[in-house]
Parts: sequence; C-alpha cells; structure tokens
Amino acid sequence: MIAILSDIHANWEALSVVMERCEALGVTQYLCLGDVIGYGPDPLPVAKIASGRFTVSLMGNHEEAMVSGKHRFNPHAAQAINWTRQQIQPDATLWSWFQARKTFAVKGNLLMVHGSIYDPVHDYVDEPENPIEAQQMIDTLNKDFSGFDICFAGHNHTPFMATTMGTMVPHDGHRQFRLPKGHKAYVCVGSVGQPRDRDVRTSFATLDGEVLTFHRLDYDLRTTQEKIRKAGLNEFLAERLGEGI
Ligand SMILES: [Fe+2]
Repeated sequence: MIAILSDIHANWEALSVVMERCEALGVTQYLCLGDVIGYGPDPLPVAKIASGRFTVSLMGNHEEAMVSGKHRFNPHAAQAINWTRQQIQPDATLWSWFQARKTFAVKGNLLMVHGSIYDPVHDYVDEPENPIEAQQMIDTLNKDFSGFDICFAGHNHTPFMATTMGTMVPHDGHRQFRLPKGHKAYVCVGSVGQPRDRDVRTSFATLDGEVLTFHRLDYDLRTTQEKIRKAGLNEFLAERLGEGI
C-alpha cells in the first residue's frame, strides 16, 4: 500500500497522526507531493521525517521559495518562509536535500506533481464548479494525459478526484473509490497540515492496487496553533487551522 501526502506545512501534530495510521494500515511507501514546510511551526522535525522516510518528496512552491528566495507570497506566507529558512539553512544536510527536490515524479502510469501538469510547482487544479468547467476538465484529461493515467496533485489543499466520467468529492459516507480502468484522473489528496475545505481534519490518500482511499483524521490542532503563536508567526496561520480555510 502506498500513501500519498501533500502540503504538510511543518505541522508535526498532523503528520504524527498520519504516520501512525499509515503504519497501522501497512503502508510500505510514502510519496509526498511537496510543501513539506512553510506556514507551520515545526519545519525541522517534519523535514527530518520527509528526508528519512519518503520515497518521493517533490519541490512545492514553498520549498522553491525557501531555497531560491523568490516568490510572490502574501505577507503571512513570506514571513513564515523567511522564518523557516532560518530554521533549516544551518542544517547543511537538510538544506541540500531541499535544494535537490524535483518538480515531478513518474511511477508506472502515475504522474506526481505539486501543482498541475501545466506547471508542476505553481498551477492549481481547480475542482469543476459547473458543467462547462466539468467539460473543460474532461477535455484536459483526454488531451493532456496521454503518457499516463493518473496524476496525483497537491497545492490546492482540497481532496477530490476529477475523472473522464465526472468529479467525485470524498465525504464521510464515501471515501473509497476504484480507479476507473481505461479512464484518466486527477487525484487531489488534500493537505496534511493545512486543510482548506472547511474540514479541519488532516487529509491524505492511500492507494492499494486500484483502490484509492481518501482519509481524514482528527489531530491536536490546538497544540499546533499554540506553537505558531509562540514562534511569532502570523495569528491568521493559527486561526485558519481551526476553521479549515
Ligand atoms: Fe501548500
């Protein structure tokens, strides 16, 4: 069984709960779609888990901003990435691990990106909101997914699956899907450390053969919020964890 994680954002409490559940499920490989750090208060311990345990760990826009110093972040994100750089850069091993991150990975018929196939670091895969957008998504999947069947994406912090048969949003009554044979799909796994679909629980996915499961788990977000405040990061970064935005 493979676990696909994204957007951990230096949230140790959320990652701990996810790793514990994955170990209980018998996960053998961890694939991370980027944004291990940024926003959150525990970049060092989270980066150590990522560098030590994950088979794939992609370059997200926050990793890119940290190592290059170039970004168009809002002031909260910019302050957090500057603070994060101060934590990580003194550790030469971790710093060079972050610098070496790749922007995409391929595994059989699976493509992994942080953003989208158009721009693997920065672009957002948006959930279709009306029939025109749904058709545009189907056209994209048919036209652009020629060399692979499934693209795992992060960055939007929202779990859903867009296929050539339509879009599916997981919910507590339905979290498991069989990946449709002969169809193409974008699988957005949501965010481990900063969910934005108004559900505060940590989000990730597992893949066991053709069976894809979207998971949501409670974690001790109050502790993470306290750590954000203690680190002097912006109050909004603490508040949004409590609202799932
Ligand atoms: Fe992110």
